[in-house]
Amino acid sequence: MPPVRIAPSLLACDFSRLEQELARAEAAGADWHHVDVMDGHFVPNLTFGPPIIKDIKRRANIPLDVHLMIENPAEWAQKYADVGADILTFHYEAAQDNFEETLAAFKATGCRVGVAVNPPCGVEPLRPHLAELDMVLVMTVHAGFGGQSFMPETLSKVRQLRDWGWTGDLQIDGGVNAQTSVLCKEAGADVLVAGSYLFGAENMAEAILPLK
Ligand code: DX5
Ligand code: ZN
Repeated sequence: MPPVRIAPSLLACDFSRLEQELARAEAAGADWHHVDVMDGHFVPNLTFGPPIIKDIKRRANIPLDVHLMIENPAEWAQKYADVGADILTFHYEAAQDNFEETLAAFKATGCRVGVAVNPPCGVEPLRPHLAELDMVLVMTVHAGFGGQSFMPETLSKVRQLRDWGWTGDLQIDGGVNAQTSVLCKEAGADVLVAGSYLFGAENMAEAILPLK
């Protein structure tokens, strides 16, 4: 298995000090910046869109991992690629009626492409498409808010994907901390997103170490 990569979720940062927060994550050893886009429709919460990501990109020295929690993701794929996303992940649930078309729109951007599933959604529908994906994101909380409790039962989907022979990136998002990260890695995850645990830490570099 490749080494575990860590993607601090900017959702938990101090947005009034965005530039310093990006630098803090990078200095602490972050591999990617995880950027949560919420539209107030697919999830009952609203964050930010392309203009903010464009500014984040100007200050970032590591890849931007953009997690789209939005309806009609295909319509937005190119817009997020244009402002500097390196990895673009959309939710299966937001695209199940036109999945192939949506995947094609994301692949056409040239970004690495991930597909996310919320806790109630199985990974079986992704199986025929795995060869076309760079990443699967198994949500370990219901998408929409930081600071929720980790749902260990969702890890059966991580084991399932590895049992099927999936060797691509397998990301976990939600409730990750020093304790729950152990379970994620045992199950086969190799990209860990952590928001409140890392940005809430006094010393992020020390907090990242047990995740790696
Ligand atoms: C939740 C977001 C997560 C969130 C994780 O919908 O996708 O990336 O920031 O936050 P924590 O690590 O606090 O659960
Ligand atoms: Zn996320």
